[in-house]
Amino acid sequence: MKVKNFLQDVSGASRVTRARLKAFEQASPALDGTDPIGEAARTWHPGPAELIITQIRDTGKTAKTIRFARPDGGKLPPFYAGQYMVLTFCIGSSIVSRPYSISSAPWQARQDQDPFVEITVRRSRGDGFVCDYIHENLKPGDTVVCDLAYGQFYYEPLRDARHVLALAGGVGITPFASMAKEIAAGKMDCDLTILYGSVSSDDILLKEELEALEGDHVKVVHVLSGEDPSWQGERGFLTAELIRRYSREDTSCFICGPQAMYRFLREELKSLSIPRRRIRFEVFGQARDITSFEGYPAELSGKTFRLSVWRGIHEDVIPARADESIATALERAGIRIRTGCRSGECGLCRTKVLAGSFYVCPEGDGRRAADKDFNYVHACSAYPTGDLKIKIPIL
Ligand SMILES: Cc1cc2nc3c(=O)[nH]c(=O)nc-3n(C[C@H](O)[C@H](O)[C@H](O)COP(=O)(O)OP(=O)(O)OC[C@H]3O[C@@H](n4cnc5c(N)ncnc54)[C@H](O)[C@@H]3O)c2cc1C
Ligand code: FES
Repeated sequence: MKVKNFLQDVSGASRVTRARLKAFEQASPALDGTDPIGEAARTWHPGPAELIITQIRDTGKTAKTIRFARPDGGKLPPFYAGQYMVLTFCIGSSIVSRPYSISSAPWQARQDQDPFVEITVRRSRGDGFVCDYIHENLKPGDTVVCDLAYGQFYYEPLRDARHVLALAGGVGITPFASMAKEIAAGKMDCDLTILYGSVSSDDILLKEELEALEGDHVKVVHVLSGEDPSWQGERGFLTAELIRRYSREDTSCFICGPQAMYRFLREELKSLSIPRRRIRFEVFGQARDITSFEGYPAELSGKTFRLSVWRGIHEDVIPARADESIATALERAGIRIRTGCRSGECGLCRTKVLAGSFYVCPEGDGRRAADKDFNYVHACSAYPTGDLKIKIPIL
């Protein structure tokens, strides 16, 4: 970059000032009613809105893909392949939200004819709440409050290598399905190799859809960890050896899957000399078992505290379990709180703690230094360790 000398800089700055003053003098005294920046912001983030379910189909033995459209048939907000949307439901007396990666491609949300977005939701193995509600209750014609799009887990050519090695586990395939669709349609310029780990072939989601996308720029390699004598493909976990074999000279690793897979892969990736900037993890999600984290006061497990919740001048006192986040306590009590990532990252659930003690999940502490100083927490990753008093916005 060329650095000019002091006099050139000063004369350059005064030229700008003169040009500005001239523009002010020539401007019309009438107010300009247009707001292009506000318009752009509203297009990208219109906020939560009801979308209608137009289709539900099985995309694996344990998963369903749900298609949403706007009730007026209009285009949906733009998003990057890999981002997620947040769905909110009233289930019994609870008001709950969950993030789901968008498994359709961005171009499908912006096409002229029948634009849509899709998510692919896996049924739980018996411990689910919202995912099982989705499987058992949703049907075409229903409307759901959806908020899109969020998240940083997308391809950025200025930052990422041209070859992306996607390391997917289970339902973690969904953001890569979106990327593969975008690449196959010629809308995204990179090469994607997906190493997709499943226990058995029955656990593979979106199998046929992914196979149909394979070509010059998209490759899918299934890796099974369970016993299956008839399986001809790759076996075991997504190990360092496998990652090395499918990497190119310059490769970005994108990782999305269950929390146990993240822990395993962090260790495997250490043994490869991949620069840190070439490794990207999707957010962690709600801690499966907070009591297993370092520093969690084990003696609190099973305890319930009093959570005093202030909204404006109104106070509610609700129960809050020590092993559930503050966000979950509010949702169980039917108190609305905005959430996005449920991983401590996005800050949508930022909450002021007025009094009391709490534990913050070490893998989900996305608070800024000032938030820590002024006693703010992210309600999705903070857990009461005694009676607590908080203040939340009125929604
Ligand atoms: C960025 C991101 C993207 C994701 N993408 C996908 C995806 O593409 N597909 C997919 O299937 N999943 C995805 N998930 C996971 C998804 O958000 C849900 O966690 C998953 O569907 C399981 O939801 P669940 O409520 O059944 O279980 P959990 O999220 O594990 O929630 C269970 C918890 O709900 C709480 N709970 C129980 N009963 C109640 C009640 N009555 N009221 C209030 N709370 C209660 C309890 O704390 C319980 O532990 C993604 C997660 C993240 C973070
Ligand atoms: S929902 Fe994103 S930080 Fe809590």
